[in-house]
Amino acid sequence: MTEQSGAQWHDEPTDYGQIGKLPRTEAASAKDSAPPASVIGSLNITAASADPELLDLPWHIALEDWPAEQLAALPRGISRHIVRFAHLGGSVIAIKETSEHVARHEYHMLRKLARLDVPCVEPVAVITGRTTADGKPLNPVLVTRHLKFSMPYRALFSQMLRKDTLTRLIDAQALLLVRLHLIGFYWGDVSLSNTLFRRDAGAFAAYLVDAETGELYPDLSTGQREYDLEIARVNIAGELMDLLEGGLIEEKVDPVATSELIMDSYRRLWAELTEKESFELGERWRVGARIRRLNELGFDVEEYAIKTTADGSTIQLQPKVVDAGHHQRRLLRLTGLDAQENQARRLLNDMDSFRADNNPDMDEEYSAHLWVSQIFEPIVRSIPRELAGKLEPAEVVHEVLEHRWYMSQKQDRHIPLAETVQSYLDTVLRHRRDEAAIMLNPDTELLKILEVETEESRYADLEGYPDADD
Ligand SMILES: Nc1ncnc2c1ncn2[C@@H]1O[C@H](COP(=O)(O)OP(=O)(O)O)[C@@H](O)[C@H]1O
Ligand SMILES: [Mg+2]
Repeated sequence: MTEQSGAQWHDEPTDYGQIGKLPRTEAASAKDSAPPASVIGSLNITAASADPELLDLPWHIALEDWPAEQLAALPRGISRHIVRFAHLGGSVIAIKETSEHVARHEYHMLRKLARLDVPCVEPVAVITGRTTADGKPLNPVLVTRHLKFSMPYRALFSQMLRKDTLTRLIDAQALLLVRLHLIGFYWGDVSLSNTLFRRDAGAFAAYLVDAETGELYPDLSTGQREYDLEIARVNIAGELMDLLEGGLIEEKVDPVATSELIMDSYRRLWAELTEKESFELGERWRVGARIRRLNELGFDVEEYAIKTTADGSTIQLQPKVVDAGHHQRRLLRLTGLDAQENQARRLLNDMDSFRADNNPDMDEEYSAHLWVSQIFEPIVRSIPRELAGKLEPAEVVHEVLEHRWYMSQKQDRHIPLAETVQSYLDTVLRHRRDEAAIMLNPDTELLKILEVETEESRYADLEGYPDADD
């Protein structure tokens, strides 16, 4: 524990072996522990590393009343707690006011999930011991790092969302749920509001943002998984009905039928990843085919059990440990580029055909290096600074490569890279809205969508709306 300008910093190690929920401890119950006089005016900060800039924020003011100049005006999803974004050094953090127990539970849960490589937001700190200048206690907060280029689903609807975009959103949500279940995480509150989306080569990648109700076990039972899936379906149906009422999705979208898509998508993926398959001995090739299919889906099979039946006529295959991020890891290994799964797959395709066209006999590693310096980097460098916040670099490169393909189809000729980039900048990127910081200056249309119906405002008149854990 260190002391720094009146604040106590602790690093509270996460108990990675701990099963289920974080147990309640005496100290963690905020109600019977009004801050003793000694902590008045001094904060208690739990964080893996001491970030002194945290102390510059006005913790003595209720989050709701923070002055606008501290805040980053980024789109937020629907929430029950007060959540705000603030500038911290060069980055942005998300702050949620909640009870100490919830904050601590979520902090450790997010650390466990990160260690298991699940896409989720990164926990920064739990801050307790907040008081106003005249000594009135304020709620503890959980601080997480704002996930760059991410969007709450409602922000994706600022133009009317097409039905197939919606389907891709739900597919991403299903994949996230499968990944969470594979590592034994029961979410308990699956919803679009508790998920963040980033563009991923035309599809979406989903990240968990709210782990408050989560529980981690060595394995989940089918009952637990089905229960989570049912929660997902009901919540999504409700969220879609809200959007439909607000005129934000096409009339022909049926909220209930669409919400049911998550069941199919989830079950198909789950079966592909975990199901036992039997083959005739003569069909051994199917083992390889199954593994390739899993790779295509983005999973690596670290271990699989093959059993021969007693009479020796069939073999049984069961993939055992599956690991997500197959293409991501290959791209990282070859190029050092960190992209999302579908982006990585697209970039690798281009890299592989670049090698086939230009230097088929060259080492994969060396050719990858050339691809980065001759294709990837020139594209990224050619984006004028004022357009750079529109999309993540890997997404831009993916779009440029797509654009080139469309152009060459249309004009039936080879289009040089420089020409493609120029055309892409002029006809596509310039017209996109900014996603790095969508709406640092939000337009009123978007603000309406994002703010009007937050649950925060819905519950605003219910004095003392209780915490979920009370
Ligand atoms: N680290 C983060 N990065 C981006 N957005 C975030 C982050 N943390 C919270 N948010 C936004 O705030 C909203 C509410 O956060 P959440 O943890 O779900 O609060 P609640 O527990 O009240 O539901 C989310 O839907 C999301 O849009
Ligand atoms: Mg939430």
